[in-house]
Amino acid sequence: MAEPIAVLSSRYDVPDAHTLEGYKREGGYSALPQALEIAPGDLVAMVKEAGLRGRGGAGFPTGVKWSFMPKGTGKPTYLVVNADESEPGTFKDRELMERDPFQLLEGIAIACHALESERAFIYIRGEYLFPGMRLEEAMTEAYAAGYLGDDILGSGVNVHVTLHYGAGAYICGEETALLDSLEGRRGQPRLRPPFPAVAGLYASPTAVNNVESIANVPWIVERGVDWYKSLGTEKSAGTKLVCVSGEVKRPGNYEWPMGATFREIIETSCEGMLDGREVRFFAPGGSSTPLLTAEHLDVELDFDAVAAAGSLLGTAALMVYSDKTSVVEAARNWTKFYEHESCGKCTPCREGTFWLSQVYDRMLSGGGRPQDLQILDEVCDNIFGRSFCALGDAATSPIKSSLKYFRDEYEHLVEHGRLPDGLEPHAGIITDNAARHRPTDFAQPATVRAGSLR
Ligand SMILES: Cc1cc2nc3c(=O)[nH]c(=O)nc-3n(C[C@H](O)[C@H](O)[C@H](O)COP(=O)(O)O)c2cc1C
Ligand code: SF4
Repeated sequence: MAEPIAVLSSRYDVPDAHTLEGYKREGGYSALPQALEIAPGDLVAMVKEAGLRGRGGAGFPTGVKWSFMPKGTGKPTYLVVNADESEPGTFKDRELMERDPFQLLEGIAIACHALESERAFIYIRGEYLFPGMRLEEAMTEAYAAGYLGDDILGSGVNVHVTLHYGAGAYICGEETALLDSLEGRRGQPRLRPPFPAVAGLYASPTAVNNVESIANVPWIVERGVDWYKSLGTEKSAGTKLVCVSGEVKRPGNYEWPMGATFREIIETSCEGMLDGREVRFFAPGGSSTPLLTAEHLDVELDFDAVAAAGSLLGTAALMVYSDKTSVVEAARNWTKFYEHESCGKCTPCREGTFWLSQVYDRMLSGGGRPQDLQILDEVCDNIFGRSFCALGDAATSPIKSSLKYFRDEYEHLVEHGRLPDGLEPHAGIITDNAARHRPTDFAQPATVRAGSLR
């Protein structure tokens, strides 16, 4: 039986943890002096051995990514922190930057030393004005106290950080589109190879890492590799910030050790479902991850375990829906999001998401035809694996998985021109940006505050 744990979130309820004084009082900046004594290559090896896997969605091992960075190219090396956080259901980086911005800055300084980089960029989503403000204040303090800038803590190491606000496009979270956007171009994905590690920002070696990935780094240095590995499972080390939304009693950000089950998270942290409802389906890691059902509630929070169950851990944005909610309506809602956010660069995604959206509208307005299910299937098959970037694949996830598990609901809709009795549309929860970006209510406990969509 796993228990929730507070590592990355350990200072969330300290009111002044966002100030340098508060951060240091609560143990912050213990890791950086230690890290500056370690050779860059050894730091990379340490992060590799700790088994940290990227928290931005794909779960790629962070240390391995860092080890791909070529040395001696004569070009500068960059760290780019991905704080775009646009995946529907995901709001963990927002809270981390609001409550504990120095944790990220300390991680950046250590990561820059490991990568022998003198310049980091934080690409933050444009709507994140408050987290951005917190970061700006923290950067000012960190520069003044010698934790950023030239010759940090008298070590001879230089680390400069630039905060850059995005302009509100989901695709700019995709790492190569992000780099184009950062360079001042229209944010669209780049052809790979070359990968960013070899030719990224300004064609220089670049590590792109998620906020939460970088926030793990000070803990690995301070507490050691064995401690870090002891927190999770064999192949998914550490803890995970899980953002829970949907029909649970207490949506919010909760930190759990890897290996906890979805059932434990829903029943313990979220105090179960609203009004005694039953779980019908859930997205384990954001809208890009195939839906799972009540049968999968005992699957563990682990990249490989979720993949074995037929989905992906993604960002661990757990979106939970009950036996009252129509999966077809939820899939339409996600499809509208992907149609809107498709950058238009490649035909399968640009045209396919438009047609998928048309079919959903037809079915849900009562004009569905028996062949519509096959059309959905075929359009998805022509997008998946044929698109230029992973957004196209992601758009097919809710559709293919809902057809797999809930075909009867689609068939009823097409046959009778309405949803089965007892099922209601659940529009709004996914694309309701007004709720998602409403100001933080600091009177509430941290765990409820950030994630509450209600
Ligand atoms: C459409 C799309 C959107 C993405 N959005 C984000 C995002 O908002 N934040 C993020 O960290 N990664 C996002 N990613 C994943 C990044 O491309 C990249 O894998 C990640 O930033 C690497 O960091 P990590 O290795 O620390 O996970 C997105 C990927 C795709 C395909
Ligand atoms: S898959 Fe979609 S988002 Fe990605 S390049 Fe193609 S059109 Fe753009």
